[in-house]
Amino acid sequence: MKITIDGPAGSGKSTVAKEISRRLGIPYLNTGLVYRATAYVCMIEGLEEGEVLKVFDSPIRVELGIARTEVFYKQENISDKLGSEDVGKIASQIATFPAFRERINQFFRSLMGEKQAVIEGRDAGTHIFPNADLKIFLTASPEERARRRYEQLKSEGFQVDYQEILRAIIERDQRDASRPLYPFKPAEDAVIIDTTDMKLEEVIEKVLNLIKERG
Ligand code: DC
Repeated sequence: MKITIDGPAGSGKSTVAKEISRRLGIPYLNTGLVYRATAYVCMIEGLEEGEVLKVFDSPIRVELGIARTEVFYKQENISDKLGSEDVGKIASQIATFPAFRERINQFFRSLMGEKQAVIEGRDAGTHIFPNADLKIFLTASPEERARRRYEQLKSEGFQVDYQEILRAIIERDQRDASRPLYPFKPAEDAVIIDTTDMKLEEVIEKVLNLIKERG
């Protein structure tokens, strides 16, 4: 079974996707982390805007496990270097290039093949795996998403400012939603869950029930 969990930054999609991966014992693919990895490699290799596709010729390797996606570049595990707002911003900019999206989607499809997995992203259900067995779209208010992101970054040791994060979230939402090709929106057959006033366990239960129904 392939389950896609899409949603904007701070909607809770990572936490939910990892927990579903654990409960079902199937791998977890965090597509945003791979976008971030490509952004990071573009940054350190100094690739210009017109050269971003070259990143796919570089030695990037993705390893999947239960509740775990890790990215290696030149044998080094770079997964912990990808969490900053700077890398996120570049990832979101690169993501506006249609040719880049086509290429990274091919990468995801050949990485996964027919494997069972929980796939987290923005367009996992619309463009990467349009035939997924279950598509979830998580959302929450921008303020609640900023609050969650603030807590997460703080716990990871980053120095952060709530208002700045809220501004960045709104800006990123707009950029992601207004791409002329591949705008960010739920799949027509996705189940939309607004998590603003929900506890994590409630969201998990809801997703598990949907999986049972489809199973
Ligand atoms: O989920 P994230 O914040 O780590 O993703 C970083 C950026 O990558 C996000 O702003 C948009 C882009 N992205 C995308 O366009 N499509 C995906 N499936 C995943 C991420």
